[in-house]
Amino acid sequence: MSNRYEQALARASAKFRLSGMEAAKKGIIPYKSENGRWVPSPFCGNGWWTGGFWPGLMWQLWVYTSDNWFREEARRAEALLVEEFRRFTELNHDVGFMYLLSCGADWKLSGDEQARIDTLHAASLMMGRFNPRGFFRAWDGADRTGYAIIDCMMNLSLLFWASRQTEDPRFAHAARIHADTAMREFLRPDGSVSHIIEFDPETGARVREHPGQGYALGTQWSRGQAWGLYGFTLAYLNTKDPRYLETAERIAANFVSHIRPDGLTDCDFCQPPEEERLDNIAGAVAACGLLELDKATGNAAWRDAAEKLVNGMLDLCVDWSDGQCGLLTRCTASYHDDGAGRHTNITYGDYFLVEALMKLTGRDPMLWM
Ligand code: GLY
Repeated sequence: MSNRYEQALARASAKFRLSGMEAAKKGIIPYKSENGRWVPSPFCGNGWWTGGFWPGLMWQLWVYTSDNWFREEARRAEALLVEEFRRFTELNHDVGFMYLLSCGADWKLSGDEQARIDTLHAASLMMGRFNPRGFFRAWDGADRTGYAIIDCMMNLSLLFWASRQTEDPRFAHAARIHADTAMREFLRPDGSVSHIIEFDPETGARVREHPGQGYALGTQWSRGQAWGLYGFTLAYLNTKDPRYLETAERIAANFVSHIRPDGLTDCDFCQPPEEERLDNIAGAVAACGLLELDKATGNAAWRDAAEKLVNGMLDLCVDWSDGQCGLLTRCTASYHDDGAGRHTNITYGDYFLVEALMKLTGRDPMLWM
């Protein structure tokens, strides 16, 4: 099977080497492939939470190929993201996604000191969103002072990284406080997780759950399940706290029980059965988390499940043609379309599929830590 993953990586690197030149020529950070061509985020441009995935993909492919074109393309995007520090008001808790995979990856793979400083800058911005009543505030907006979301579990890695870098435990303390809150308030008895929980910003008391990007209130948005799965796995890898591992495995067991027979991933595990709505990004993120869980626990069932997801995508949902910039198809940003796209390509799907292939072939540089 690993030969299949080797071949997929070889083809992916050739594809992105070609289509990446279009992104460089346009001077954009690709958000998705539309009519076969890369387009930037229609939301707030390079400040959108997804900006780190393109440079992250380029760094992964630089590790794979040693072709310095990928490194230069990653740095072109990194420079655009660093400019976003000046805009500031567009940035939110997703600085983890944005800057770990860009500046953080640059520092990790090249030792560049400015990239390290920029990553620390991002961690300090993240700390500015901490509410000492127990959570990181996700988004801005007067009505959202108490909003926390499961996706944030992925952003916490930036804080654990910053504590190691600075030998100052404050970043990690805050990350642990948030992770403990998420374990208590987001995790449900069946191993699924909520997307959005609102807390009272004065007291930290739970106010209510909100419907998020899934089908309806109380359902299981699959990408949220995947963020929880991989996020708690990373919290465990960062802390070695067995409670986080146990949580990650509970979320994983629920996710695995919902993988479709063809290996693809529904957008919401509670969506109406007659509705064919997929989000392969959820499957790609989950595969990465499951492969880390396999390494952490030695339980091969996690690797088997990850392979089922990756094989489903490789069998049915990758577009290798040169006429199409992006790779992974049938990705859905939100169950109820918010304009970002349904059954389309989005670059974070490409990033996580390539990360999973790098893990499956023993090459992943682990850019999250
Ligand atoms: N983190 C936002 C999303 O997954 O759409």
